[in-house]
Amino acid sequence: MGFFTRIFSKKNKQIYPLDWIGLDIHNHLLPAIDDGATSVEDSISLIKGLKGIGIHEAIATPHIMAEVHPNTQETIKNAYDTLVTALSDRNIAFDLGYAAEHMIDSELSSLIKEKKMCLLPNKHVLIEMSYLQESQNLFLIIQDLLGKGIQPILAHPERYNYYHHNFDIYRRIKDAGCLLQLNLLSVTRYYNDSVKTVALSLIKSGMYDFVGTDLHHKKHLNALEYLTTKYDTRSLLKNNPIKNKELKESGGSLRVITNTG
Ligand SMILES: [Fe+2]
Repeated sequence: MGFFTRIFSKKNKQIYPLDWIGLDIHNHLLPAIDDGATSVEDSISLIKGLKGIGIHEAIATPHIMAEVHPNTQETIKNAYDTLVTALSDRNIAFDLGYAAEHMIDSELSSLIKEKKMCLLPNKHVLIEMSYLQESQNLFLIIQDLLGKGIQPILAHPERYNYYHHNFDIYRRIKDAGCLLQLNLLSVTRYYNDSVKTVALSLIKSGMYDFVGTDLHHKKHLNALEYLTTKYDTRSLLKNNPIKNKELKESGGSLRVITNTG
């Protein structure tokens, strides 16, 4: 196969790029601070992959999880600065900001109180629970955040298996004022069939407010590339009030520090 044929067929393969989301609000692109990118080179390779599927802007959201990934505003900012310098040195255009994915654990209440969270633009925050068990204080945390003018977004609600036979809980979470973020890979069979089924039910009910890649590594990237060849996510989600682009616009420059400070 000649050079031009290869380029042509590669281009032809991607039918549904992800440019419609505007901004990826959930990923683990920062180097070597959680279970995501393992080095600057790895981060850059993932970023090139994202650009290849139409995503040119992202807010990195490393885990902040007591004991497992004990990141702070400082560790995240340092990793961010390192990566932004490396991108600039290599002349790679990619608009990157940073925030965090906060686990609802024993430490989170103190972080909220001490204003040590890492926020998304416009005072939004990404929160997650363990895949093994529900956080007992989920509703208290939602209330606490809202009371402080911070808008919680629950990451990948479709991935919490313990909710799979309790659809009503999703409505209760939304009614409590929490927004929901879909992992794009959940609409494929990447995680499992049950996750896909719940994701499609939530989509059908118009329950999602945001989407994200939750990109950690090359295997996720390959699966996202596959997604763009098979799934028209834009039209799949057309009845969901997806606000990634709005968040981007409200955030101004992503390079501005978005912490509460
Ligand atoms: Fe994540």
